[in-house]
Amino acid sequence: MLTQLIHTKNLNDSEILALLERANAFLHQEATPPNLTHKRIVALFFENSTRTIASFQMAASRLGAYFSVFNVQKSSASKGETLLDTLHNLEAMGLDLLITRHHHSSSAIYFAKHLNCAFINAGSGTLAHPTQALLDLLTLYNHFKGALEGKTIAIVGDIKNSRVANSNMELLPRFGMRVILVAPPHFLPPTSLPTTHSLQEALEVADVVMGLRTQTERHCLQTYGSLKDYAKDFCLRGALLGKRQIPILHPGPVHRNIDIEDALLDDPRCQVLEQVKLGVFLRMALMESMLAS
Ligand code: NCD
Repeated sequence: MLTQLIHTKNLNDSEILALLERANAFLHQEATPPNLTHKRIVALFFENSTRTIASFQMAASRLGAYFSVFNVQKSSASKGETLLDTLHNLEAMGLDLLITRHHHSSSAIYFAKHLNCAFINAGSGTLAHPTQALLDLLTLYNHFKGALEGKTIAIVGDIKNSRVANSNMELLPRFGMRVILVAPPHFLPPTSLPTTHSLQEALEVADVVMGLRTQTERHCLQTYGSLKDYAKDFCLRGALLGKRQIPILHPGPVHRNIDIEDALLDDPRCQVLEQVKLGVFLRMALMESMLAS
């Protein structure tokens, strides 16, 4: 049984398929069994979050667990306590699962190494965001009715600084998907995957497109004059997409009219809120698999 999820590589393909099936069972069930009653789950987030933290909270409460969000801004971290001491103090209170988000890429590896309780990485710097990639996979799995083999996904934007892209680039090819990276040169990581600077070219072959937010908080140089300059070449627009019936994904938060134009966010092809919805069921399946006795 998995006890620490740092990145998607911690799960093998059959464990992942089992999570997708369990998430879909939760999705279609009328009443959810409170399988995590008495389990204590704490979220320790050093970076802001809307969807991820609320999704974990919703998932935990649907399963009857006790969920608490630790307020980092008001903690003794500001009094000089080390991160490790904060972790050990939380754990000493009898935690079953700690969920963290931190701006350092190696944070999740460090946290996991020093904890005895179960652990989920909810975003570590630019390195990994495994539950986002798993919920993206679930969205695609359901959309294509399980037939992912040979489908091409164009991932567009600040790939180099995106932990969501990183996790998806590891996960999606394992289920037969082809990944094309679409970005200006300074947003591309060193990679063996196909790349292009032309969104139009990528859309001609893509079966699905995933937009990303420009991670300005992680840039040390201003790479574009403004996000509007970037949007001229990389914003996903209805005019570029034409009538192609391909799903549009984005992990959120969306920079409207920079990543995706307003009209496309209201288009039936847009799966952004479906991703958010399925994220709750995916996280229920994951936490249940880690904690249910
Ligand atoms: C992403 C993240 O935090 O990595 N958001 C999320 O969890 N859904 C993407 C982002 O912040 O751009």
